[in-house]
Amino acid sequence: MAQLWGGRFKDKTDKEVYDFNASINFDKRLIGVDIAGSRAHVKMLAKQGILTEADRDSILDGLNTIEDDVKSGNLIITDEYEDVHSFVEAVLTDRIGEAGKRLHTGRSRNDQVALDMRLYTKSRVAGTDKLLYVLIESILNTMKDNVDTFMPGFTHLQKAQPITLAHHYGAYLEMFRRDRGRLHDLFIRMNECPLGAGALAGTTYPLDREFTAKELGFDCPTRNSIDSVADRDYVLEYLFTLSTVMMHLSRFCEEIIIWNSNEYQFVEIDDAFSTGSSIMPQKKNPDIAELVRGKTGRVYGALMSLLTTMKGLPLAYNKDMQEDKEIAFDAMDNADNCIHLFTGMISTMKFRKERMAKSAMNGFTNATDAADYLVGKGVAFRDAHRIIGELVLACIDKNKSIEEMTLDELKEISPVFDKDIYEAISLETCVEKRLTVGAPGKAVMQNEILEAENYLKNNPALNV
Ligand code: ARG
Repeated sequence: MAQLWGGRFKDKTDKEVYDFNASINFDKRLIGVDIAGSRAHVKMLAKQGILTEADRDSILDGLNTIEDDVKSGNLIITDEYEDVHSFVEAVLTDRIGEAGKRLHTGRSRNDQVALDMRLYTKSRVAGTDKLLYVLIESILNTMKDNVDTFMPGFTHLQKAQPITLAHHYGAYLEMFRRDRGRLHDLFIRMNECPLGAGALAGTTYPLDREFTAKELGFDCPTRNSIDSVADRDYVLEYLFTLSTVMMHLSRFCEEIIIWNSNEYQFVEIDDAFSTGSSIMPQKKNPDIAELVRGKTGRVYGALMSLLTTMKGLPLAYNKDMQEDKEIAFDAMDNADNCIHLFTGMISTMKFRKERMAKSAMNGFTNATDAADYLVGKGVAFRDAHRIIGELVLACIDKNKSIEEMTLDELKEISPVFDKDIYEAISLETCVEKRLTVGAPGKAVMQNEILEAENYLKNNPALNV
């Protein structure tokens, strides 16, 4: 039970209380950022004359050896320490003696942990951004190859109008692009350094907070010391963004599961991303898509959990805030893993283009275009809508699609039909005529693809 406090206590902490209070098992992953923060802090202390240069050098050397030894596995972070901060300080003092005890001058664990969480979250935000960048690249590649791949577009999971695969994928490209936008926005907002806020009220030492902020890659120091140690809204923003990413991935997965079903057979998931059944030899299951959809719940859970943890806390630091870590880390790990595996799955997935096009032809997806044809011949849209409704009924009765009806059969429904109807409602025409901004027509899609390429070029992944 190695802890940083105890002078004020007569008795030892109860063992179960100690374990309940400790966070080392999950905050040990902060060791890298904790050491980075300490380095910046001691450099600043020496610069300000608060620490001697000799002490600074000895602390920096000590921190280097700790970092190296943890990396190489020579030094194990065990739960005999309360948290990662105690671990570093205890080992440092053990290794370099007196100077180690001066590391914490002008600092509290409150601003230390606030700094660690910011630094760690920043690097995770950048990591997620990189993964989304790769995902968008993969989506864009599929779009480029499929501006002519017809498929039905759906509303209410009922066939609605014909679209192309490029158009459908383009919808997801936009969603993930906005998710990246959210990451970039929150990154700017969170890029302020809380180090120097102390326990809550700053310190009486002449700290140079601008220096440490710059040293650690922040834009500036935070403006209010109480806020600096009391809020975790940047973690919440990140969790919200991850939740939105997961929601988007989950919808995409749901579609892939449907497209992969025996009834649809629009896609075939690669063997490397599928699993079998222990009893049914014929099975090839879309487990990865299902798991990504399933894990969405736990990421939402992390967001709700931390929102609830924070909602009743008086300013400034409260121990409740230690709960910002375990579940948030779990959400970060799982969301990143989902983006990565999902990208692998869709990058290797094959499309059955003929089946998709055939499916787009059945189900009266050209009914709107047939109505528009009548409008072109002078029929009011509302009347055209009714006429085509009657035509669809007649088709169902004869078990035919609209284009399979003879001209005589069509004329029975309305004399306005002429032989140019067949061209007007062909799959190609239905898609190609849709040339408004954002529509599936080839010329428009090619513009969108160019625009997306430029977007990727001009918006590289965040770097920390
Ligand atoms: N393990 C703590 C946390 O994660 C570190 C900060 C402790 N500060 C304190 N005043 N007890 O929040």
